[in-house]
Amino acid sequence: MRSKIVAGNWKMNLSSVEISKLVKEVANQIIEGEISSDTKIVFGPAFPYLALVREILDSFHLGNILLAAQNCSEIDSGARTGETSVGMLKDVGCDLVIIGHSERRKFHKESNELLKLKVDKSLEHGLPVIFCIGETLEEREQEKLFEVIESQVSEALFHLSAEDLSKIVLAYEPVWAIGTGVTASPEQAQEMHQFIRLLIDKKYGFEVSDKMSILYGGSVKPANAAELFSKPDVDGGLVGGASLKSGDFFEIIKAI
Ligand code: PGA
Repeated sequence: MRSKIVAGNWKMNLSSVEISKLVKEVANQIIEGEISSDTKIVFGPAFPYLALVREILDSFHLGNILLAAQNCSEIDSGARTGETSVGMLKDVGCDLVIIGHSERRKFHKESNELLKLKVDKSLEHGLPVIFCIGETLEEREQEKLFEVIESQVSEALFHLSAEDLSKIVLAYEPVWAIGTGVTASPEQAQEMHQFIRLLIDKKYGFEVSDKMSILYGGSVKPANAAELFSKPDVDGGLVGGASLKSGDFFEIIKAI
């Protein structure tokens, strides 16, 4: 059975005080709410707070809450001012790294080629990846959405062995739904998730595609999470805005 995952991507938000409060509130709700241990919860703080979140999570001894970084460098060390290596992320206790978020593609001009190198570097160090893909509104309107998703997946991932691919979680995040309040309908999400699973199936076979977790991201909220997660190829969510409030985030976790 593939993992169900609810990941909070905090982006460039929250202070140390707010983070401590949020993590403790969600962790306590998870303990009290008897969330199935098969469901994985992920916190994705900004770099300066990774060690803080690790420390708090360790004090709760909850094996199903994982720590994710929001980016990594494609090289191991050296003269890259402002960058953070995968080795450093492992050193502070990260369990995962988010690669290819549309905000990195857009504001930092990250190409499929660069993202491929980042994926390789993460897997070389044994750090599993949440790999984000998604089309813009323009690409959807021009009916290029499937083409765009296919090239994002194939150019960054299809050189991997089946074993390495199994360390990737995909997150389908239509760019037009991120932070806009406009969510893809459950049918739109299912249509794309099914297409993505089929792509994996064609290249790697059923056993690999069936085990791959594919998350939906883009304005996931307590009000729409259950319907999105009820779709057969939607295995959870990558949540931005609604992951910043413990009550909303826990409602979304419960929806899975
Ligand atoms: P959002 O962000 O939930 O605020 O739309 C999702 C994301 O960017 O991962």
